[in-house]
Amino acid sequence: METTHEQLRRQAIQFLRGLQQAGVTDLPAETARSLGAFLAEPPSESVGEERAKFSPAEEAGPEKPAATRESQADAPADAPRSEKNVDSFSLSDPYGPPSALPARRAALDLLNQQVAACDRCSELSSCRTQTVFGTGNPLPRLAFYGEGPGADEDRQGEPFVGRAGELLNKIIQACKMKREDVYIFNTVKCRPPGNRNPREEEISNCWQYSEQQLEVLQPEFICCLGSVAARTLLKTTESVGRLRGKFHQYRGSRVIVTYHPAYLLRTPEAKAKTWDDMKMLMAAMGIEL
Ligand code: URA
Ligand code: URA
Repeated sequence: METTHEQLRRQAIQFLRGLQQAGVTDLPAETARSLGAFLAEPPSESVGEERAKFSPAEEAGPEKPAATRESQADAPADAPRSEKNVDSFSLSDPYGPPSALPARRAALDLLNQQVAACDRCSELSSCRTQTVFGTGNPLPRLAFYGEGPGADEDRQGEPFVGRAGELLNKIIQACKMKREDVYIFNTVKCRPPGNRNPREEEISNCWQYSEQQLEVLQPEFICCLGSVAARTLLKTTESVGRLRGKFHQYRGSRVIVTYHPAYLLRTPEAKAKTWDDMKMLMAAMGIEL
């Protein structure tokens, strides 16, 4: 059941997004402070639940590296919300502080609703069972960016739940993370019929949604799975073979490119290279394998 506080928060965020779209970049200091306090403070009864869900790394003990950004925040998770957090709220970064988890959820929910109603691609929107928006931690250190839903994903409404998804889960586990720690999404949110590749026009129709997802999530790291994801995010025509093995940049995120799990299922000899890519990523994330 949704609380009144949560409804108000959603309305406030919708209003702020509207202001932002209209070109407003600053609020009077006092307004920003009180809005910041409101958006940063979850209703008190839900605090325990949020933490239990999104800080699995904290339970791993102090010697384990943190797997979520939330646990890396300046203040210990149970410290009172600091004035700094409140003051750091800004219109240009309303999803900034880790305490803005409910705000991020609300923003993602809104975006998901827009995606569910999208009919920019006439073929995809008429063939889909449902849209497949994305899933996982709204405060991820790492986001996986795939290509598009297949039959299983179209049926279940969640990315990477079929055979390729099983392999992705194994990769995530081998990296000492859980599926719930990361965020997973695709270049196109609708299944291309017959599992054909998404067309250029479909990819560009859908890019604005991925762009907005990333604007909310601001992951420290993004892993592009396969050439469609890499080309879409990095605006390049280079192959996976040329893009892998080094870090790229997308806005504030460090990006790696590796082979798509479906490609690895067909080409098992490439798995070693993907494992090398993941080791490079884990080293940069400070996660010991
Ligand atoms: N392959 C993808 O690229 N994405 C999915 O969600 C499933 C399979
Ligand atoms: N080509 C692709 O499209 N994806 C891969 O992962 C590898 C080669």
